[in-house]
Amino acid sequence: MKLLVLFVSVVLGQHVFNHGPSGDSVEPKAALESDSDLKDYIIGSSSLIDFHRKLVEIPSVSGNESAVAHYVSLFLESHGLTVELQSVEGNRYNVYAYDGQRDNKIVLTSHIDTVPPFLPYAVEGTKIYGRGSCDAKGSVASQVFSYLSLRKQGTIKPGDVALLFVVGEEVNGTGMLKTAELNTTWQIGIFGEPTELKLGVGHKGMLSTQIEVFGKNAHSGYPELGISATEIIIPALNELLNAEYPYHDLLGPTTLNVGMLNAGVAANVIPPHASARLAFRVATDLEKVKATVAAKLDGIDHLKYTFDFESTPQYLQYQVPGFESIVLAYSTDIPNLHQNLTKRFLYGPGTIHVAHSDHEYIESQDLVDAIGGYERLIKYNLA
Ligand SMILES: *[C@@H]1O[C@H](CO)[C@@H](O)[C@H](O)[C@H]1NC(C)=O
Ligand SMILES: *[C@@H]1O[C@H](CO)[C@@H](O)[C@H](O)[C@H]1NC(C)=O
Ligand SMILES: *[C@@H]1O[C@H](CO)[C@@H](O)[C@H](O)[C@H]1NC(C)=O
Ligand SMILES: *[C@@H]1O[C@H](CO)[C@@H](O)[C@H](O)[C@H]1NC(C)=O
Repeated sequence: MKLLVLFVSVVLGQHVFNHGPSGDSVEPKAALESDSDLKDYIIGSSSLIDFHRKLVEIPSVSGNESAVAHYVSLFLESHGLTVELQSVEGNRYNVYAYDGQRDNKIVLTSHIDTVPPFLPYAVEGTKIYGRGSCDAKGSVASQVFSYLSLRKQGTIKPGDVALLFVVGEEVNGTGMLKTAELNTTWQIGIFGEPTELKLGVGHKGMLSTQIEVFGKNAHSGYPELGISATEIIIPALNELLNAEYPYHDLLGPTTLNVGMLNAGVAANVIPPHASARLAFRVATDLEKVKATVAAKLDGIDHLKYTFDFESTPQYLQYQVPGFESIVLAYSTDIPNLHQNLTKRFLYGPGTIHVAHSDHEYIESQDLVDAIGGYERLIKYNLA
């Protein structure tokens, strides 16, 4: 652990202990003379808001989660938990923490990576700004504090609840996929993402599709000598945009976004190449969506398409007394947890409407309220 502690001192020295003008009561440089001082510092600054602040202040754009993983790991260890840093690839680690017993009935989980770019921590009124403040470091902080609080009360015992914080959720779920190799079992999953303190009814799946057309260039005055890639891709996209896709009673319509479109070289040249990148948000029946795409695109000369990525829609447990529910249109790591959970819940502070934006924030009261929400969900599932 010596190496780990030294590593964290260095990283935190840069990002966490230099709090700047808004001021922290701790005098970091003097306090960091030894490892035990560092441990005292971490325990001494264990308020929810402070923990959340440190999480947000450590940049952890997907791919660069090492510093935050080590910080969370040290924090949980300082509170007496057994912590495993699971190597995912290179310098990327999932954090798996529990009270003595590896296998647990409930796994309380979220992700520690964020989308780019890093945005600094700032407080304005009751709002806490910064990259990840909402998605999903708000959930991480509230989950950790609900766990510590229930443990202190004696409500949970070894084997009841484990904490799992993964990397790579914002890119391809590589961290959560890797948890299959932890060789541990859970029965119930409580996933933390911004749900406005409501229980997610479920969320749509995703189908991303790439289309390419290879035509033939020619002088625009002699179109008969070329093959226009745009004249092939535009009607094809129109067909897709006007097609009917499956509707689900709870999750609503399957939607299509033509997110990227590229073609051509100049106004007076018949375009030799065109490409498009599409994202379907799939409410139900992924296979039917794929079949519709195939029906519209198969057999078009010069056009090729591939399905780059797909995930199935998720239907979750949402009927718990005292909770409102919410329908979500974003993807999560839930389908990447390849374990036969009997129940899955999605709940967390903050709203997805600001996540990924340049003004990402969370209401500080939501962080506090989410502790209560996670506690009630855990108690409900242990009862
Ligand atoms: C990780 O951080 C390094 C140094 O700040 C940067 O060069 C690199 O591009 C980052 N990687 C990712 C995946 O963001
Ligand atoms: C996810 O992306 C990372 C690079 O960001 C790559 O190394 C890894 O192999 C990918 N994992 C999966 C499961 O696609
Ligand atoms: C899980 O089991 C696999 C196969 O037996 C093994 O290679 C791996 O090291 C185990 N992982 C852990 C964390 O015990
Ligand atoms: C998954 O769990 C359910 C409920 O406990 C059980 O009925 C089912 O057989 C399990 N499936 C697998 C593949 O283990």
